[in-house]
Amino acid sequence: MQILGIETTCDDTSVAVVQSGTSILGQDTASQEDIHAQYGGVYPEKAAQRHSQTLPEMVDQFFEKRQLSPQNIEAIAVSYGPGLIGSILTGLNCAKTLSVAWGLPFIGINHVEAHLYAAIMGRSSSDWRFPSLGLVISGGHTILLQINHLGEYQRLGSTQDDAIGEAFDKAAILLGLSYPGGAKIEKLAEQGDPYAYPFKSAHIKKAPLDFSFSGLKTAIFYAKQKESQLTDTVKKNLAASFQRAAFATILDKLQLALSQKTYKSLWIGGGVAANQYFRSLLEQKVNLPIFFPPRNLCQDNAAMIAGLGYHKLQENPKGDSLTLLASSRIPFL
Ligand code: KG4
Ligand code: ZN
Repeated sequence: MQILGIETTCDDTSVAVVQSGTSILGQDTASQEDIHAQYGGVYPEKAAQRHSQTLPEMVDQFFEKRQLSPQNIEAIAVSYGPGLIGSILTGLNCAKTLSVAWGLPFIGINHVEAHLYAAIMGRSSSDWRFPSLGLVISGGHTILLQINHLGEYQRLGSTQDDAIGEAFDKAAILLGLSYPGGAKIEKLAEQGDPYAYPFKSAHIKKAPLDFSFSGLKTAIFYAKQKESQLTDTVKKNLAASFQRAAFATILDKLQLALSQKTYKSLWIGGGVAANQYFRSLLEQKVNLPIFFPPRNLCQDNAAMIAGLGYHKLQENPKGDSLTLLASSRIPFL
């Protein structure tokens, strides 16, 4: 069964066709870095405009340039949130229009759940064991949850201020790097001393599985101010110390959650999951099967939307109502 997926919740326009929830038959993704880099973050109105300029042609050319036909598509899956409302609406309206024009079911997908699904998408369902622990770390989300089944989750903790990717992006700007800065911080950190600065994330007493990254961002700001010159060595050391502290707090929460209950595996998704330092850290410290998405499925992409759409369609073969609204925030759990 082939499903067309569409993703436009933030600043990536992406279209994919996935077979039976696992094999990607094709995917096109257009980044908007060229627009947003000059603002140091996503400019919501310009993001929506660019999606509406890019998406129709992307869908049209998607089939033209491949040996794929819209006639083999059996459903259309699209993110309906959370994210930027104008951006979501572009993809959602496109998906609804195609659903009516082609007479196919339409499926609304929670973007955060799809990030989690990306971790296990290419794997045989015999690898899926429950309960598992899930972590989504991206530019918009930092959420820790218990996965009882695909589609049934319990929230364990989330960020009380900035998402981890947002903290990486803000730290990057302080170091003179352009948006998005996560991968650039990782690169810089490779040659820095992770213990040059004693950065530490705040601990939240009342909610020990919650995260807070805003203090870390302030710490890097003051540490930078104290330096007489922002030399290459200082930048590398700040990046390495920031990265160490950000992932140390993630590891602490994971270890705390793992001490509270027995989990069969750990699923990790979201743009920040592409970080190799983090992957190595977890592989050394967590004694559990860990499922990471391949790098191309960490950042926002339509394949994870089409992949999860397949499972939603099994539960609900008629699909969702065309009255489904875009939602900037979705109570995920
Ligand atoms: O999942 P994603 O594409 O978008 C959201 O749903 O938010 O994640 C984008 C975020 C950005 O904040 C970016 O800086 C961060 O993921 N990111 C990284 C790395 N690659 C991307 N952060 C740390 N290390 C990386 N290698
Ligand atoms: Zn995302």
